[in-house]
Amino acid sequence: MVDKKLTGAGLRGQSAGETALCTVGKSGSGLTYCGYDVADLSENATFEEVAYLLFNGELPNQNQLASYKAELKKQRDLPAALKQVLKLIPADAHPMDVMRSGCSFLGNLEPELSFDAQYQAANRLLAAFPAIMVYWYHYSHERVEIDCVSDEDSIAGHFLKLLTGKTPSEQHQKVMDVSLILYAEHEFNASTFTARVCASTLSDMYSCITGAIGSLRGPLHGGANEAAMEMIQKFSSPEDAKIQMAGMLERKEKIMGFGHAIYRTSDPRNTIIKAWSEKLAEEFGDTSLYDISVACEEFMWDSKKLFCNADFFHASTYHFMGIPTKLFTPIFVCSRVTGWAAHVMEQRSNNRIIRPSADYTGSEPRKVIPIGQR
Ligand code: COA
Repeated sequence: MVDKKLTGAGLRGQSAGETALCTVGKSGSGLTYCGYDVADLSENATFEEVAYLLFNGELPNQNQLASYKAELKKQRDLPAALKQVLKLIPADAHPMDVMRSGCSFLGNLEPELSFDAQYQAANRLLAAFPAIMVYWYHYSHERVEIDCVSDEDSIAGHFLKLLTGKTPSEQHQKVMDVSLILYAEHEFNASTFTARVCASTLSDMYSCITGAIGSLRGPLHGGANEAAMEMIQKFSSPEDAKIQMAGMLERKEKIMGFGHAIYRTSDPRNTIIKAWSEKLAEEFGDTSLYDISVACEEFMWDSKKLFCNADFFHASTYHFMGIPTKLFTPIFVCSRVTGWAAHVMEQRSNNRIIRPSADYTGSEPRKVIPIGQR
């Protein structure tokens, strides 16, 4: 078999188009949105400001932000027909399938009738995704029909309020807000590329986002935060983590939450979420999961020079906030819908259908032998 690294498999290292939305591994801490460093945004902006930035190219002023937040707030509720569909999805369904179906079904009820409605469709999904996820979760697991609206000002607070039924602490709101910022956009990753390919056929916003959710679902992409949680929960101590991870590497298993297709020595999002994980561990009153995570990080670097990506410390961070593991990847959807929709809009603004070629490796030309003679 030919060496995948020499053939450019996975389109690695090849430019597949232009974008003004994001750079990965090029400047600042390593990740920028529309010229702003993600570290700067996570300290000095909110997720709604980042969504506005991705959709409009500029950060909003105070008035623009207030009216944007009000507009999003108005769109949080779900249509009755969508609630009916969510009620039919069983508790053991994959939550990413719930997000995919929720998105797709909303596209039936409120279709994007023309590209003039693209901002409306994007904002509707951004506003509705937390309720899609949490309404299904509570109904399927507890037979409780939650109210899909809340008075919480931010999407971060709204999601936590729907999930727990309580007003979240300022610290939890802040951490969730930072998490949504970190996950919002990441250039031509697999799910965004899926959205752009779909957009390049001039398809509608809901189809583009539904396809992107399907790509994000896989454990090599968004599913890594859940997989990382399942792994660290199996380790009883930092020492046990190192022993078990050595075995996993020996068996050539992939360790979820480590490595990256573009970053080579670190993921800028990791430093930020790791610091929050440490703070939350102290508040939680039991730092063992954080200590285990740090041991994993040290072991992987020492043994393979592999580093934590954004997903690894997200696992313990979400866990300390009491978020069920199965909702980890759907939260990623609630955030990345901003990046996906921004890329769909950008693709539409200068479109050519995406249609690469392939290197053929099949049989030589041949003739069909009539069926009775084969
Ligand atoms: N665990 C074990 N080995 C890993 C690894 C991991 N998490 N990530 C990379 N490697 C190994 C690869 O198998 C490869 O080994 P090889 O040379 O023997 O084939 C080597 O490290 C270099 O891999 P690289 O080219 O850097 O990775 P990639 O671009 O093919 O894949 C990922 C990138 C993200 C898909 C990969 O690192 C991975 O599967 N990580 C785990 C899933 C994950 O966390 N995904 C979320 C990404 S944000």
